[in-house]
Amino acid sequence: MKNIAIICSGGDVSGMNPALKHFVEYALEKNLHPYFVYNGYEGLIDNAIKQVSYSDVAGIITRGGTIIGSARSKRFMQKEYRRIAKNNLDSLGIHMLIVLGGDGSFKGLDIFYKEHGVKFCGIPSTIDNDIYGTDYCLGVDTALNIIKTSIDAIRDTASSFKRAFVIETMGRDCGYLALVSHLTSGSELCLIPELACDLVKYEEKFKIQMKNGRNYFIAIVSEGIEKSAQDIADWFEEKVGIESRVSVLGHIQRGGNPTIYDRLMAYKFITHAINALLNSTNKSIVCYDTNGFSLKSIDTVVNKQKELDTNLLKFLH
Ligand code: F6P
Repeated sequence: MKNIAIICSGGDVSGMNPALKHFVEYALEKNLHPYFVYNGYEGLIDNAIKQVSYSDVAGIITRGGTIIGSARSKRFMQKEYRRIAKNNLDSLGIHMLIVLGGDGSFKGLDIFYKEHGVKFCGIPSTIDNDIYGTDYCLGVDTALNIIKTSIDAIRDTASSFKRAFVIETMGRDCGYLALVSHLTSGSELCLIPELACDLVKYEEKFKIQMKNGRNYFIAIVSEGIEKSAQDIADWFEEKVGIESRVSVLGHIQRGGNPTIYDRLMAYKFITHAINALLNSTNKSIVCYDTNGFSLKSIDTVVNKQKELDTNLLKFLH
């Protein structure tokens, strides 16, 4: 039997645990020995690697985060530590890796492959949904649902208290979470890093709306925009003339019970990844778009910048 290991790297997402569960189950079904690597690439370096079985993944499907831990490893950026990581894998006879992570994790993996030739398959996993080549990254659906619930709750108090609320979403430099949340929550304003922050055009519009009876506003702003959420709240007070508050959603967007969609996608991603490795595909990322699943070379995925869907951007007024 061959040995296969799985790693969660970078920002954790809800959906990683369902992926770990199916990894163990599907690997065993395919007569492979499954291994967990703990705490991202740090665990590769520290030899925190353990052979696992069904009992290790019992009851985890409902849990957000990852039971094997994740990390952004600075040491893995250094050649000497990648050598140690390779030696650890060799000593356990592991020659296939599955990595759940984002762009930074895949860049590290790309270098590791170039230096040591360890076969891998990557599964895009980040709430930012900013990986080139795939329309969907694991965890996005749960994050969007958490944001939706938060905005709906804030709307209750905003409308009761007649205030403007500026709600900041995560996404690093990518406005996907903010844009989709804006479109699906009916908020009045959306600011994302991809577009210039032009508030002037809203000033008159919002004042007229208030004259016509509007008494609260919801603004969704992404982290990474040129102004801070507090700047936008100040603008509401000073230019539009309405009391305002800021609500930074923060890391609640990264946790929580994985949605049905993320659980199912986790299963599908893992199935494709293990099949790819068994079919001798050496350095691919499992991608998903309107045509379904496909395997793309890591060279394509890590060297290009993901752009926001222009069809979604068209809905922004
Ligand atoms: O990449 C996922 C993400 O949650 C980003 O949206 C955010 O900018 C960053 O990670 C936060 O990182 P940390 O958990 O290290 O604060």
